Amino acid sequence: MVNIFFKTYGCQANVADSTFLISYLSNRGRVVSCENEADFIIINSCAIREKAEQKLFSYLGKLALLKEDKPYLRVGVIGCVASYRKRDIFEKFDHVNFVFGAKEDINVLRSYLANALEELETIKKIYYNDPINFPIKFRRDRDIEKIVVERCGGCDFECHSFLQLGQKKLNKLEETGRKKLKRAFVNIMTGCNNYCSYCIVPFTRGREVSYKMKQILEHVKGEVKGGVKEITLVGQNVNSYSDPDSGAKFIALLREVAKIEGNFWVRYISSHPKDMTKNLFEVMAENKDRFCRHLHLPLQSGSDKILKAMNRVYSVEHYLKIVDWIREVLPDATITSDIIVGFPGETEEDYQMTRKIIEKVRFDLIYSFVYSKRKYTTAFNYPDDCKQEEKLSRLYALQERAKEISAENNSKHIGSVQRVLVEDRLKNGRLWGRTSGNVLVHFDGRDEKTGTFVDLKIGKADRVKLEGVLVEKEI
Ligand code: SAH
Ligand code: SF4
Ligand code: F3S
Repeated sequence: MVNIFFKTYGCQANVADSTFLISYLSNRGRVVSCENEADFIIINSCAIREKAEQKLFSYLGKLALLKEDKPYLRVGVIGCVASYRKRDIFEKFDHVNFVFGAKEDINVLRSYLANALEELETIKKIYYNDPINFPIKFRRDRDIEKIVVERCGGCDFECHSFLQLGQKKLNKLEETGRKKLKRAFVNIMTGCNNYCSYCIVPFTRGREVSYKMKQILEHVKGEVKGGVKEITLVGQNVNSYSDPDSGAKFIALLREVAKIEGNFWVRYISSHPKDMTKNLFEVMAENKDRFCRHLHLPLQSGSDKILKAMNRVYSVEHYLKIVDWIREVLPDATITSDIIVGFPGETEEDYQMTRKIIEKVRFDLIYSFVYSKRKYTTAFNYPDDCKQEEKLSRLYALQERAKEISAENNSKHIGSVQRVLVEDRLKNGRLWGRTSGNVLVHFDGRDEKTGTFVDLKIGKADRVKLEGVLVEKEI
């Protein structure tokens, strides 16, 4: 049996891709939770900020040592960095066997991996029968590189979406081959056509392509039948979903998902403010028990000048109008957001405008980042005279205030009863889960509660979580 290890960096789109591959490969090999046990290591990479790429490169460096001990070890890099740095990866790391970009057809990758696993199983057997004269010289799987490069169409760079699902959880997902997990990520589309001027995703995932509604609904039904209690529909910009067969839009997809029978929740991510309509919130309100009370609506900046330079194509005023719609139609919904600090040209005044919007909207949670310059993006050449130190101090101050607001919002839940999908047990012995609004809750309970819905009376709150007590039996 071949031992497979998956390492996944990045957003829910990568998680959904990894999950898809893991569930297929777990019938053909054993998914393990540690690199040392692995015969086959697959790394799903993220290119969103420079740091994410650095992490990949330093991780790849470490894997070279493993290959010294286990010459038949096979290592592959897939995902977003693999989309545009194939040559670099091959040049820098002799022990990498194949590189397959996120914008390629994942079904081609799936077949490749299935064949590679079969081959590796034979090689592993030979190795253990005759370790001294191990006869097979390892080679790189050039064919897979060829597929990727050929499909590129000759552009000048070789090739051409916060969940915030922690790595620990992903390892668990990988370890179990998804058998025990009650949450599933379903990609409804891939790629992006928005070309926000800072963002590399349109280059790593390619043009926007929506998957067929029929297939998505089958996928969701299959997951629910298999016991999944929470489905997250994933796309870089879910609001521009369009069924390739019928032209049906995102709202139509949500209506269809709402009709599927079963006891499960639905989330979606990410939404672009330019495509948000009030009607969307009305559909969510009509199907109260199905759609989670949480909207992730990336603002990026509170300055119209910066939003324009980012090519976000909405104004702050429009953003605030959407927030008003949410408050009117879904008054109990939480709102989270992404903010970029230190975009080229951002002055102290622009930054203060962002701070002002944060005070106004009072987000339940913010994911904030210092701007990271990315190759191929329009903003790459924008003049930027703001020092990194200044950018970091803006970020830290913003994060500090955002956390205070989170604590204030969380404390409003004290005294209420919240339905929670239970995730797992913590090291400190308590169970944890998330509310419909995606707020973390800790409580005491038995193992059997894991993967079920429970009702909790909230007694405490801080910046990052709520604490509650079970009020009734498993739902
Ligand atoms: N498609 C999603 C975003 C995916 S990337 C959307 O538009 O909502 C997730 C977040 O990373 C973005 O919302 C943005 O805040 C941040 N991000 C993207 N590119 C970045 C860059 N070059 N530097 C810093 N943050 C970036
Ligand atoms: Fe990137 Fe903008 Fe597309 Fe989101 S919408 S993936 S930020 S280009
Ligand atoms: Fe990263 Fe690719 Fe997602 S760059 S954020 S994994 S789409």
